[in-house]
Amino acid sequence: MTARQLPAQQQPAQQRSARQPAAQQPPVIQIRHLTKAYGHGDATVHALRGPLAPGTGEPEGVSLDVEQGDYVAVMGSSGSGKSTLMNILGCLDVPTAGRYLLDGIDVGHLDEQQLSLVRNRKIGFIFQSFNLVPRTTALAQVELPLAYAGVRAAERRRRALAALSLVGLSERAGHRPNELSGGQQQRVAVARALVTAPAMLLADEPTGNLDSRSTRDVLAIIDDLNASGRTVVLITHEDEVAEHAKRVLRLVDGQIVSDVRQAPVDGPPPALRALAGARP
Ligand SMILES: Nc1ncnc2c1ncn2[C@@H]1O[C@H](COP(=O)(O)OP(=O)(O)OP(=O)(O)O)[C@@H](O)[C@H]1O
Ligand SMILES: [Mg+2]
Repeated sequence: MTARQLPAQQQPAQQRSARQPAAQQPPVIQIRHLTKAYGHGDATVHALRGPLAPGTGEPEGVSLDVEQGDYVAVMGSSGSGKSTLMNILGCLDVPTAGRYLLDGIDVGHLDEQQLSLVRNRKIGFIFQSFNLVPRTTALAQVELPLAYAGVRAAERRRRALAALSLVGLSERAGHRPNELSGGQQQRVAVARALVTAPAMLLADEPTGNLDSRSTRDVLAIIDDLNASGRTVVLITHEDEVAEHAKRVLRLVDGQIVSDVRQAPVDGPPPALRALAGARP
C-alpha cells in the first residue's frame, strides 16, 4: 500500500473544506454476512450473527454499508456485540466468516503488517478509557501515530500541534496525562486519532468516563470533524450522544434490529444543522 492510495494528508485546520459529495465515493465500510463466534460446541457465543436463515436456522451474518461522511451511532445493551463489531471494523479482530471492505480494500486478504498499516493510515481510534501513554506529554502522544507512519520530526511536531490546537489544547502540549483532566485527556486522544487524517474515526463509548461538560466538548469536536468530511462510527449507551449522529443502528444479540437515519449523509450533523439553520 502506498501513500498515494490513502486519503490526502491534509492538515486538520484545512479539513473543513474537504467534504466531497458522498455519491462520488465508494462506501467507507462494506460488510457482508459477517459473523463472529467465540468458543466451541455448546459453549459457542454468537457475538455477531445477524438474522437466522429461514430454512437452516444458521446465522446469516451482519451486512452493512457506511457511506463516506456518515456519522453512525451504534447502540445496544451490554453484550449485544457493539465492541465486537467495532473491533472488526477497526481491524483489531477478525471475523469468523464474511467479508469486510474498508475503503474498497478487502481486509480479509491482508497480513498482520498490512493490517497495521491500514489501522495506522485509515482509522483513528478513540476509547472510553482514553488509552494514553503514561508519563508522556500530550504533544508526544499525538506525534506517536505519525512516528509509526514514518513522518519526519519537524513535520510531526507541526501537525501534532495543529491537531492539539483543533481540540483546544495548545496550552497543554507539554502536560502529561496525570496533569490533565479527564475531558482534556480524551481531547488529547481525539487529537491523536485525527492527526493522521484517517478516513474513519471509530469511537467506543468516547464519553463514557466524562462529565456532562467534557462530554459536550468532545462531542462538539467529533461533530466538527464529521462536518469537515470525516466518517464517524461511535458506540454509545446514551440517547443524548446518539442524537449527535446522522444514523442510529441498534444491536440486539448480535443482530442489527433497527437502522434509523436522523440527518442526510451529505450535510452537517444534527447538532450543527440547527446552528447552520440559524444563520442568515
Ligand atoms: N473474547 C471473548 N470470548 C468469549 N466471549 C466473548 C469474548 N468477547 C466478547 N464475548 C461475548 O460476546 C458478546 C458480545 O460482546 P461485546 O463486547 O461485543 O458486547 P458489547 O455490546 O460491547 O457490550 P458492553 O456494552 O458491555 O461493552 C458477549 O456475550 C460477550 O460475553
Ligand atoms: Mg463494549
